[in-house]
Amino acid sequence: MKTAILIGAVAGPLLASAQLHALAKDAGLLYFGTAVSPSDSNDGAYYRLSNDIKNFGQYTPDNAQKWDATEPSRGRFTYGQADSIVNRAISNKMLMRCHTLVWYSQLPGWVSSGSWTKDTMTSVMQTHISNVMGHFKGKCYAWDVVNEALEDDGTYRNNPFLKALGDSYFALSFKFAAAADPSTKLYYNDYNLEYFPVKADGAVRIAKLVQAAGVPIHGMGLQAHMTIGRTPSRENLTWTLNKYVALGLDVAYTELDVRIKNLPSNATGIQMQAKEYADIVGSCLDVPRCVGITVWGFGDAHSWIPQTFPGAGEACLFDRNSKPKPAFSSVSALLASASGKRPPWNTAASTAVAAVTKPAAATPTAA
Ligand code: G3I
Repeated sequence: MKTAILIGAVAGPLLASAQLHALAKDAGLLYFGTAVSPSDSNDGAYYRLSNDIKNFGQYTPDNAQKWDATEPSRGRFTYGQADSIVNRAISNKMLMRCHTLVWYSQLPGWVSSGSWTKDTMTSVMQTHISNVMGHFKGKCYAWDVVNEALEDDGTYRNNPFLKALGDSYFALSFKFAAAADPSTKLYYNDYNLEYFPVKADGAVRIAKLVQAAGVPIHGMGLQAHMTIGRTPSRENLTWTLNKYVALGLDVAYTELDVRIKNLPSNATGIQMQAKEYADIVGSCLDVPRCVGITVWGFGDAHSWIPQTFPGAGEACLFDRNSKPKPAFSSVSALLASASGKRPPWNTAASTAVAAVTKPAAATPTAA
């Protein structure tokens, strides 16, 4: 989009065009991306924005690659919805973050209610991972291999995989994934890693288990489903990201949104949201191995929040009419100000390991 539009920014008026991905690349990230759904095309303005690579250089399918969509009954694989998204990314010359393989939710009944032994669950996981990753082989920059395996207190979530295999299912999942597509980056992905130190430590434990088994794991995905007033400071977020970098991993924000807890919003809330979005993006800029940022939808009309948290919402960078909000302006301004300040991704950035120094401020906890 070449037309510049004048938007009131948090720190004064800002001349900015809707070019999040272009700005992110200039600032040394690999991408600024968004979750997408096949139904996006029902909203013309939203769909047009989502297909503009200057805004979004990367897609994650919100539901189309999950187990219930790809293997609804045992051994029957269906890829129609996911193919439509991957083909859209290919024709737009965008990257794909693919999502997700081993997750307790959106599991078809035949998996969640099945009665599994160690051997039968191993076989079910291997069949699923090798078929789904095999189908998209070479088309995914990254895969979320294991998703949301932790409770907020850092213990393992009691899902069918844990029940059958104990904690060996982490390394097994990554092993099957590495065999299915050796060219993709393999991630563990979870929420509240930004808020809860014990959960963040749980994710460290999982990564170490995989590494100790001699199996590749390349990245830690922090979903970053935030709530205004509770988002940790930029400094604390940077500290958390560096915990994973210290293990030799890349990091990425994979599902960013910042919800307003009690609607209707007011001016104060909108300004807080703008600042908190910028703090999160800023922490990624501060960490050389932070690959990029993906928002979980970019328009308030398409967000998952109101359905899951009734009374909360307006969590996105654009409003219900796909018009940019102050949060869009603060993120654009921050990215623009970071232009050229770190090397482009995949050169020096991907090899630098930052020291983990705990900031003076207390590590935050969510309310
Ligand atoms: O497919 C059925 C449809 O047949 C039925 O008619 C309809 C009735 O409600 O429901 C449809 O399923 C919905 C599904 O999305 C597909 O649209 C589910 O109810 C709904 O719960 C489900 O929500 C998804 C949610 O994951 C499920 O956990 C959201 O769209 C999706 O954005 C969300 O994404 C997750 C990430 O994968 C992981 N991290 C958290 C994030 C937000 O919850």
